[in-house]
Amino acid sequence: MNFITLNDGVLVPQLGLGVYKALEGGEVENAVSCALACGYRHIDTAAYYQNERGVGKAIKASALLRSELFITTKVWTDEIRSRSCRASFMDSLEKLDCGYIDLFLVHWPVEGYEDAWLELIKLKNEGLVRSIGVSNFQPHHLKRLSEISDVVPSVNQIESYPYFHNSEVVDYCHAHKIAVTAWRPLGKLGGGILEDPVLKDLARAHGKSIAQIILRWHLQRGMIVIPKSVHKERIEENINVFDFELSSEEMRRLALLDKRLRLGADPDNVPF
Ligand SMILES: NC(=O)c1ccc[n+]([C@@H]2O[C@H](COP(=O)([O-])OP(=O)(O)OC[C@H]3O[C@@H](n4cnc5c(N)ncnc54)[C@H](OP(=O)(O)O)[C@@H]3O)[C@@H](O)[C@H]2O)c1
Repeated sequence: MNFITLNDGVLVPQLGLGVYKALEGGEVENAVSCALACGYRHIDTAAYYQNERGVGKAIKASALLRSELFITTKVWTDEIRSRSCRASFMDSLEKLDCGYIDLFLVHWPVEGYEDAWLELIKLKNEGLVRSIGVSNFQPHHLKRLSEISDVVPSVNQIESYPYFHNSEVVDYCHAHKIAVTAWRPLGKLGGGILEDPVLKDLARAHGKSIAQIILRWHLQRGMIVIPKSVHKERIEENINVFDFELSSEEMRRLALLDKRLRLGADPDNVPF
């Protein structure tokens, strides 16, 4: 596993398990247990996913030390708008039941995001969370945060997959020492990705799956990456990406795949 050092000195395993849409209870518990058994040490959940209890149970059931794990969760838009960030954080902490949270994110830049950020700074100063960051923030939202505080987010978690690189945001963040996590990193393998000739060609050349080529590309771009699966063989497949390397020519071919095709919501027009 590779690690990324955040701007506050905290180390993050560069690849983690995403659990959006993994059902609370057996499904998420099995997925997290399976991931921990095959080497994942980083889990990405959110209050919105309604599966934090299951994530916490799987962590408890593992023989791993808490300090070996990196747990991310996020405050949802309703709580950002109603200025209930702290209550949301405490609720997540209680549900995860794992002592502390490694990374807490403002999930979307909806009205109230500046106040949410100031509250996150307080939580960090109180020692309740190791690192704080944001998600789906555009450069103008990040600039706004820099006007109201000196604390730079450690992470911006944004949509990025082979047909939507989101390069302007990635470049802005990296230039400002903000680590970037790619959400929906596989683009759910829909929209023709499995038939893409470049991806197929590289998969054949390396004896890897298309999912593995995509994840390796993210890692070599310096991204943190959090593919989701609830299936053992896919969870294993997705972490098995540290034993090969894409050449600079292959990275250049992948850089040309961008179609600026966003799958998720537009951060400047959040509909929820
Ligand atoms: N911050 C945000 O606003 C935001 C938004 C969306 C997502 N996220 C985070 O990012 C994580 C990943 O995004 P995502 O779940 O939307 O999409 P994704 O990771 O791009 O794709 C997940 C989908 O691909 C399937 N899959 C995974 N690995 C596969 C493989 N090796 N072969 C074939 N199919 C595979 C999964 O199916 P199975 O589960 O059935 O295997 C699932 O349907 C989320 O879980 C969440 O933690 C954050």
